[in-house]
Amino acid sequence: MRILILFSLIISLFACNKSTNTPPSKEIMAAGQKHYTAHCKVCHQANGEGTSMMNPPLANNKTVTGSPEKLTKIVLFGQSGPIKVNGKKFNGVMAPHSHLSDKQLSEILTYIRNSWGNEASAITTEQVRKVRFK
Ligand code: HEC
Repeated sequence: MRILILFSLIISLFACNKSTNTPPSKEIMAAGQKHYTAHCKVCHQANGEGTSMMNPPLANNKTVTGSPEKLTKIVLFGQSGPIKVNGKKFNGVMAPHSHLSDKQLSEILTYIRNSWGNEASAITTEQVRKVRFK
Protein backbone atom coordinates (compact mmCIF):
# COMPACT_ATOMS: atom_id res chain seq x y z
CA MET A 1 0.00 0.00 0.00
CA ARG A 2 2.76 2.44 0.94
CA ILE A 3 4.58 1.64 -2.25
CA LEU A 4 1.43 2.44 -4.20
CA ILE A 5 1.05 5.82 -2.53
CA LEU A 6 4.69 6.58 -3.16
CA PHE A 7 4.29 5.63 -6.80
CA SER A 8 1.29 7.86 -7.39
CA LEU A 9 3.08 10.67 -5.61
CA ILE A 10 6.08 10.38 -7.90
CA ILE A 11 3.88 10.19 -10.98
CA SER A 12 1.91 13.29 -10.00
CA LEU A 13 5.15 15.13 -9.33
CA PHE A 14 6.32 14.35 -12.84
CA ALA A 15 3.00 15.44 -14.27
CA CYS A 16 3.28 18.83 -12.55
CA ASN A 17 6.85 19.39 -13.62
CA LYS A 18 6.06 21.14 -16.90
CA SER A 19 8.81 23.31 -18.25
CA THR A 20 6.64 26.34 -18.95
CA ASN A 21 7.79 29.79 -17.85
CA THR A 22 6.14 31.19 -14.80
CA PRO A 23 4.50 34.43 -15.90
CA PRO A 24 6.18 37.57 -14.50
CA SER A 25 4.59 39.34 -11.54
CA LYS A 26 2.00 42.08 -12.05
CA GLU A 27 4.39 44.56 -10.43
CA ILE A 28 7.18 43.89 -12.93
CA MET A 29 4.78 44.04 -15.87
CA ALA A 30 3.29 47.35 -14.63
CA ALA A 31 6.74 48.89 -14.12
CA GLY A 32 7.86 47.59 -17.52
CA GLN A 33 4.83 49.10 -19.21
CA LYS A 34 5.49 52.46 -17.53
CA HIS A 35 9.10 52.60 -18.73
CA TYR A 36 8.14 51.26 -22.17
CA THR A 37 5.59 54.07 -22.52
CA ALA A 38 8.23 56.64 -21.57
CA HIS A 39 11.15 55.32 -23.65
CA CYS A 40 9.97 53.02 -26.45
CA LYS A 41 6.33 53.67 -27.30
CA VAL A 42 6.98 56.68 -29.53
CA CYS A 43 8.61 54.38 -32.09
CA HIS A 44 7.37 50.87 -31.38
CA GLN A 45 3.80 51.95 -30.44
CA ALA A 46 1.62 50.99 -27.48
CA ASN A 47 0.47 47.82 -29.24
CA GLY A 48 4.04 46.76 -30.11
CA GLU A 49 3.27 46.86 -33.82
CA GLY A 50 5.85 49.55 -34.67
CA THR A 51 5.25 51.77 -37.68
CA SER A 52 5.41 50.41 -41.20
CA MET A 53 8.65 51.19 -43.03
CA MET A 54 10.29 52.95 -40.04
CA ASN A 55 10.21 51.05 -36.75
CA PRO A 56 9.98 47.25 -36.55
CA PRO A 57 7.23 45.53 -34.56
CA LEU A 58 8.16 43.97 -31.21
CA ALA A 59 4.97 41.89 -31.18
CA ASN A 60 5.40 38.47 -32.73
CA ASN A 61 9.14 39.14 -33.19
CA LYS A 62 11.53 36.23 -32.68
CA THR A 63 14.40 38.53 -31.68
CA VAL A 64 12.27 39.79 -28.78
CA THR A 65 11.27 36.32 -27.54
CA GLY A 66 14.59 34.70 -28.46
CA SER A 67 18.01 34.88 -26.80
CA PRO A 68 17.82 37.10 -23.68
CA GLU A 69 21.45 38.13 -24.17
CA LYS A 70 21.03 39.21 -27.79
CA LEU A 71 17.86 41.17 -27.00
CA THR A 72 19.48 42.89 -24.01
CA LYS A 73 22.48 43.84 -26.14
CA ILE A 74 20.27 45.47 -28.81
CA VAL A 75 18.36 47.57 -26.31
CA LEU A 76 21.40 48.49 -24.21
CA PHE A 77 23.75 49.37 -27.07
CA GLY A 78 21.43 50.05 -29.99
CA GLN A 79 21.28 48.55 -33.46
CA SER A 80 21.45 49.79 -37.02
CA GLY A 81 21.41 48.35 -40.49
CA PRO A 82 19.05 46.18 -42.50
CA ILE A 83 16.84 43.67 -40.68
CA LYS A 84 13.82 41.62 -41.70
CA VAL A 85 10.91 41.08 -39.32
CA ASN A 86 8.13 38.76 -40.47
CA GLY A 87 9.05 39.31 -44.09
CA LYS A 88 9.15 43.12 -43.84
CA LYS A 89 12.41 44.99 -44.28
CA PHE A 90 13.64 47.74 -41.99
CA ASN A 91 16.84 49.71 -42.16
CA GLY A 92 17.02 52.30 -39.45
CA VAL A 93 18.87 53.29 -36.34
CA MET A 94 17.88 52.34 -32.85
CA ALA A 95 19.77 54.46 -30.30
CA PRO A 96 21.43 52.88 -27.24
CA HIS A 97 19.48 52.90 -23.97
CA SER A 98 22.39 52.37 -21.59
CA HIS A 99 21.27 55.45 -19.61
CA LEU A 100 18.43 53.36 -18.19
CA SER A 101 19.18 51.36 -15.03
CA ASP A 102 19.59 47.58 -15.00
CA LYS A 103 16.31 47.39 -13.11
CA GLN A 104 14.40 49.58 -15.58
CA LEU A 105 15.80 47.60 -18.53
CA SER A 106 15.00 44.23 -16.94
CA GLU A 107 11.41 45.41 -16.43
CA ILE A 108 11.07 46.74 -19.98
CA LEU A 109 12.57 43.57 -21.48
CA THR A 110 10.37 41.31 -19.36
CA TYR A 111 7.37 43.43 -20.39
CA ILE A 112 8.04 43.25 -24.15
CA ARG A 113 8.73 39.50 -23.93
CA ASN A 114 5.32 38.97 -22.31
CA SER A 115 3.00 41.41 -24.07
CA TRP A 116 0.93 41.45 -27.28
CA GLY A 117 0.89 37.65 -27.47
CA ASN A 118 4.63 37.30 -26.83
CA GLU A 119 5.60 34.68 -24.27
CA ALA A 120 9.18 34.24 -23.04
CA SER A 121 11.21 34.05 -19.87
CA ALA A 122 11.64 37.14 -17.69
CA ILE A 123 14.97 38.97 -17.80
CA THR A 124 16.59 39.73 -14.46
CA THR A 125 18.58 42.76 -13.32
CA GLU A 126 21.58 40.47 -13.00
CA GLN A 127 21.28 39.35 -16.64
CA VAL A 128 21.23 42.99 -17.81
CA ARG A 129 24.23 43.84 -15.61
CA LYS A 130 26.24 40.98 -17.10
CA VAL A 131 25.57 42.12 -20.68
CA ARG A 132 26.36 45.74 -19.77
CA PHE A 133 29.80 44.87 -18.39
CA LYS A 134 30.72 42.13 -20.82
C1 HEC B 1 13.50 56.72 -32.00
C2 HEC B 1 12.81 55.48 -32.26
C3 HEC B 1 13.05 54.28 -31.37
C4 HEC B 1 12.97 54.21 -29.99
C5 HEC B 1 12.67 55.33 -29.00
C6 HEC B 1 13.21 52.82 -29.65
N1 HEC B 1 13.43 52.09 -30.77
FE1 HEC B 1 13.77 50.10 -30.88
N2 HEC B 1 14.16 50.24 -32.86
C7 HEC B 1 14.01 51.40 -33.62
C8 HEC B 1 14.44 51.12 -34.98
C9 HEC B 1 14.42 52.10 -36.14
C10 HEC B 1 14.88 49.78 -35.01
C11 HEC B 1 15.46 49.00 -36.21
C12 HEC B 1 16.96 49.17 -36.28
C13 HEC B 1 17.54 48.46 -37.48
O1 HEC B 1 17.08 48.69 -38.60
O2 HEC B 1 18.48 47.65 -37.30
C14 HEC B 1 14.67 49.26 -33.65
C15 HEC B 1 14.96 47.96 -33.27
C16 HEC B 1 14.61 47.42 -32.04
C17 HEC B 1 14.76 46.03 -31.68
C18 HEC B 1 15.32 44.93 -32.58
C19 HEC B 1 14.25 44.37 -33.45
C20 HEC B 1 14.76 43.27 -34.36
O3 HEC B 1 13.91 42.49 -34.83
O4 HEC B 1 15.97 43.16 -34.59
C21 HEC B 1 14.31 45.90 -30.39
C22 HEC B 1 14.24 44.63 -29.59
C23 HEC B 1 13.90 47.21 -29.95
N3 HEC B 1 14.10 48.11 -30.97
C24 HEC B 1 13.39 47.49 -28.69
C25 HEC B 1 13.24 48.78 -28.19
C26 HEC B 1 12.97 49.09 -26.81
C27 HEC B 1 12.76 48.07 -25.71
C28 HEC B 1 12.96 50.45 -26.70
C29 HEC B 1 12.81 51.28 -25.44
C30 HEC B 1 13.79 51.06 -24.42
C31 HEC B 1 13.17 50.99 -28.03
N4 HEC B 1 13.34 49.94 -28.91
C32 HEC B 1 13.17 52.33 -28.35
C33 HEC B 1 13.53 52.59 -33.17
C34 HEC B 1 13.35 52.94 -31.84
